[in-house]
Amino acid sequence: MSDFPHVLPTYNRAPLAFERGEGSWAIAADGTRYLDLGAGIAVNALGHANLELVAALTEQAGRIWHVSNLYQIPQQEKLANLLVDNTFADTVFVTNSGTEAAELAIKMARKYWDHAGDPDRYEILTFEGAFHGRSTGAIAASGSEKMVKGFGPLMPGFVHLPFGDVEAMRAAISDRTAAVMIEPIQGEGGIRVLPDADLRLIRQLCDETGALLILDEVQSGMGRTGRLFAHEHAGITPDIMMVAKGIGGGFPLGAVLATEKAASGMTAGSHGSTYGGNPLACAVGARVMEIIATPAFLAEVSRKAGLFRQKLEGLVAAHPQVFESVRGQGLMLGLKCKVAPADVVKAGYAEHILTVPAADNTLRLLPPLNISDEEITEAVIRLDRAAKRVEEA
Ligand SMILES: Cc1ncc(COP(=O)(O)O)c(C=O)c1O
Repeated sequence: MSDFPHVLPTYNRAPLAFERGEGSWAIAADGTRYLDLGAGIAVNALGHANLELVAALTEQAGRIWHVSNLYQIPQQEKLANLLVDNTFADTVFVTNSGTEAAELAIKMARKYWDHAGDPDRYEILTFEGAFHGRSTGAIAASGSEKMVKGFGPLMPGFVHLPFGDVEAMRAAISDRTAAVMIEPIQGEGGIRVLPDADLRLIRQLCDETGALLILDEVQSGMGRTGRLFAHEHAGITPDIMMVAKGIGGGFPLGAVLATEKAASGMTAGSHGSTYGGNPLACAVGARVMEIIATPAFLAEVSRKAGLFRQKLEGLVAAHPQVFESVRGQGLMLGLKCKVAPADVVKAGYAEHILTVPAADNTLRLLPPLNISDEEITEAVIRLDRAAKRVEEA
């Protein structure tokens, strides 16, 4: 018998396993409690085992799990209504993940131009350091050597520009551009925030050329930055937006939101999903929306983010050999490191704190949005101890 790993070895996993979770804490089988500043990579927006989400899930689980999109799904309609009522969007397609949202966003933009009688207008401008998922379309969109190597030939039609280089975009965009696809804050790319002024200029360039603006808010959305979606800080709206991660609070769920105009090519039969929008996922997603999309909840995210950031500035000042700066917005925070971020992550395990490495030598801090003030204080104490371990190594 082959001794090849029974789980395909595509991940570099830490030697940790968790048996249960409580709020901001992930608990190992031996009872050790880890303060979870990764939240499953920005997924557990309301922490682990949130009682309201457990109730939403179990109530629905006792009724009906799956019916398929052959039938009406009231829970899906409720989620779509909540998203439309709280955003720029006129319409929503529910997916199971961010990658699926990326696929539909790309298809929708291309179909828009085909429907408008301009089928050759398929080119999409994307940005270096982007992460939109691991499907063949999403890796072609990102263009990163690490993600695409060996998987060619790639889907054509993407033009990759330096992140945040608005002048390069001004030169590249034309009336041949179908869409611009960008994360307002790059997550995997290293918590790189696109300044509001740049996002406004990108919107303006799209308006001038007619190109659609696709925002990938899979990581930056659902309250993470203190607004429901990060683009709200810039006072602009996209034509198409990808959402996932936090919207399911830990249950696999994603969505594409769009204006009526951008969605105009997506007629019956043009797209579909067996699982997308199932009652179980949508019951949870609707509850997450009801909790997060309130001014009081979002104000608390901003307040806690201010507190956390202030403490992190102190941490950086105390460990100039380990950290360079704090970056990010709201509770989507990064510590630009002077050492390998993986070393800090590892030292964090020894101090029972979970963090996530990213590109650009950055450590990501993506806590549950309802983390307490005391837990923020405790997080910085543990990060301080982890930094000392790195200094002493
Ligand atoms: C900005 C962004 N887009 C898309 C994705 C892909 O989402 P998923 O892993 O749910 O397919 C991710 C995942 O990290 C992401 O951060």
